[in-house]
Amino acid sequence: MNTFDTFAQRYLREWDKRATVRTQQRWRLPAEIDVGRLFPLDFQPIARHAAVVALGEKAVHEVLVRTLYKFQGEVAHLEMAIVGDLCGKLAGGAFSFPLPASVRQVARTIGVDEFYHSYLAREFIADLSQRTGIDPGPLPGWTYPLATALTALRRDADPAILGDAEIMVLCFAENFVTEELFGLVKNTPKDTAFHVALREHLVDEGRHQIFFQMLMRHIWQEIDESTRLALGRLLPGFLDAFILERESGRAFDLGILGLLGFDRIRSLEIARESYVAAYGGQQPRKSALFAIKRLFNLVRVARIDAHGPTREALVRSGWIDDQTPVARDSGG
Ligand SMILES: [Fe+2]
Ligand SMILES: [Fe+2]
Repeated sequence: MNTFDTFAQRYLREWDKRATVRTQQRWRLPAEIDVGRLFPLDFQPIARHAAVVALGEKAVHEVLVRTLYKFQGEVAHLEMAIVGDLCGKLAGGAFSFPLPASVRQVARTIGVDEFYHSYLAREFIADLSQRTGIDPGPLPGWTYPLATALTALRRDADPAILGDAEIMVLCFAENFVTEELFGLVKNTPKDTAFHVALREHLVDEGRHQIFFQMLMRHIWQEIDESTRLALGRLLPGFLDAFILERESGRAFDLGILGLLGFDRIRSLEIARESYVAAYGGQQPRKSALFAIKRLFNLVRVARIDAHGPTREALVRSGWIDDQTPVARDSGG
């Protein structure tokens, strides 16, 4: 507890010196943007499909712009409705584990950061719409994988441990989303608007990620065995819903293809062919998914996999390989 308290106090001093909302003039989308390089093609396979390319540059650009609206729309929603909201609960809620006042203060600073990120994402969408003349239409609500996974967990969890379970989701979400942003920023040319916006966001997220690793470790240590068992039972189902869910992305792609004039059957074909071309036809086993590499860093740092029954549940559900070594306590 003492080290976590010390960490949180140092975090608060860092936040005051480094948080974008505290220290930086905010970045705005420039007047001149290169629409063809707005969103990395690797992350939107349908923009490369021959049938879409054949419609001309304007159609490809529209796919990229709409994909960017979706990306920023999800950021705007999740930062406020999920991460910001759960940070509010962390700051003021009652849990089965103890929390130093300094940690609750850190939760408030992260809530501030995330509402600011949400604000920036909405501003980006408005600016981009103004530059391109493309109406974003309705923006994402509780539809993307993290949102539907959290909804399912709220439905399934025992109300007695729901508060603890929501904070576990927050720790996983903050580790995963940060890694996703890191992956995107690495794959986006430095001189593009999207890269600059992502980099600005990541200034804060690196700090959040470390905090949530510390928090998860603290929680896992402090909760009693029955809570640990209950959280461990929820984890595989949550990961399935969060990491494997593809339906919302597919529905989105089919919507764009429909706007471009393809009928339903042709759209389904194009979507399928695009994903096979980009990722191959076979789904890799869960423990080999690229997306989980970093998530499992959290599992190891927090020593979640050192708990026998939780480890067994993760092995049974395919999230960790049987031979993966159990985390060793690195002290501290
Ligand atoms: Fe954020
Ligand atoms: Fe964050």
